[in-house]
Amino acid sequence: MADRAIALGSDHAGLRLKREIARHLSERGVATVDLGTDSEDSVDYPDFAAAVARAVSIGRQPLGILVCGTGIGMSIAANKIRGARAAVCANELEARLARAHNDANVLCLGERTLGGAVALAVVDAFLGGAFEGGRHARRLEKIKALEEADT
Ligand code: RB5
Repeated sequence: MADRAIALGSDHAGLRLKREIARHLSERGVATVDLGTDSEDSVDYPDFAAAVARAVSIGRQPLGILVCGTGIGMSIAANKIRGARAAVCANELEARLARAHNDANVLCLGERTLGGAVALAVVDAFLGGAFEGGRHARRLEKIKALEEADT
């Protein structure tokens, strides 16, 4: 069933920042659903990237946030899920433009590469952003066509 909660996921290297993000969003009245991992034991980031990207691509959650060491592995894996548009963002402008131009639906962050305060500002910019449509919609259609052609 669809709800408005933001899907969160991380591997062990992103656990601390993911928890910080959950706390930050909760303080602002934004609901989240955590799809794991939930301990510091070493795990494989593609498992959590897939869980969050699927929840978003089937419409169960509106947006997702994934955290690993760099955000890079999470984004590579999440973008394998049809309908996922995952973006690694390291600053607020990237986060805003990822939504405005790319209609990104999954934000990927690196706990080892971003300071906590920057990461939370990036989260806010991402969640506050909105797709502009227009010429950007045409480009997204072309991305969708690439996905269709490559099955
Ligand atoms: C885990 O050590 C690390 O490789 C992972 O969190 C991530 O940074 C991969 O892209």
